[in-house]
Amino acid sequence: MNMKTVLSVCIGMSMLFSPACDDGKIYEEHISTEREGGAVSLTGYLQGVDSWPGGYSIVLAGFAGTNEYAQTAQGITPEKDGSVRMTLQGIPAEVTHIEVCAINKLRKRIATFYTVDYEETSDTLRLDMGTIDARMYGVIQSDVFDRSCTACHGGSTEPAAGLYLTEEKSYTALVGVVADQSKDSLLLVNPGNAQESFLHVMLRENVLRYDHTQIITSVNMLQLIDDWINNGANE
Ligand code: HEC
Repeated sequence: MNMKTVLSVCIGMSMLFSPACDDGKIYEEHISTEREGGAVSLTGYLQGVDSWPGGYSIVLAGFAGTNEYAQTAQGITPEKDGSVRMTLQGIPAEVTHIEVCAINKLRKRIATFYTVDYEETSDTLRLDMGTIDARMYGVIQSDVFDRSCTACHGGSTEPAAGLYLTEEKSYTALVGVVADQSKDSLLLVNPGNAQESFLHVMLRENVLRYDHTQIITSVNMLQLIDDWINNGANE
């Protein structure tokens, strides 16, 4: 076994046995303790890290090619004013780009906020990400609503069912609002209760005249919406 294997086994074991794993952010600690490999230092401002529930981590991470799972990752903990100053070391040679992103427990990328190409050198690569909005709801807006919904819900035409899912309007249109099309008068988004939210129901069950169940097929995106609702549906 080389060092790397030993290290990953250790991480695997600690993930299995650490009680903090289920609800805590597991990438808070520096997990790449190898001496070899490249290094990247990051500065800038990051907002909205606190809006993510346990199970997700906002990290500085290295990815290889099209692999959606981070090769190496370190949690980002901004100062009170949002400022970030950190270094990621021991970046493996196969890494092709560095991201500021949200990952889940399996280290799978859920959303990308900032990305740069990477090639190993002996110098530390210095990155300034500027100011980044990493709110969980911002991801739902851009990666779910803007991509898959606003074409019909208010982007350019009259919104279908009178429902605006465009930025600025989606939050007030959804949270705490009774769904017109719900037989049980569910709220579109019932903060803290995804199961009792019509947004959850209509993306999975064919309950509308226009079937919405094939629009979002990514399990991770469906999960993201549920986790956002269950965590209090913060803006
Ligand atoms: C191709 C057009 C189209 C797309 C894309 C679309 N919708 Fe709709 N949506 C409709 C139509 C039409 C209705 C009205 C259906 C009905 O009356 O049964 C509707 C109704 C709804 C309702 C019910 C509103 C209420 O008050 O009961 C919700 C919620 C909704 N859509 C959410 C979404 C979400 C979320 C997405 C993206 C994931 C989306 N829609 C994408 C056309 C669309």
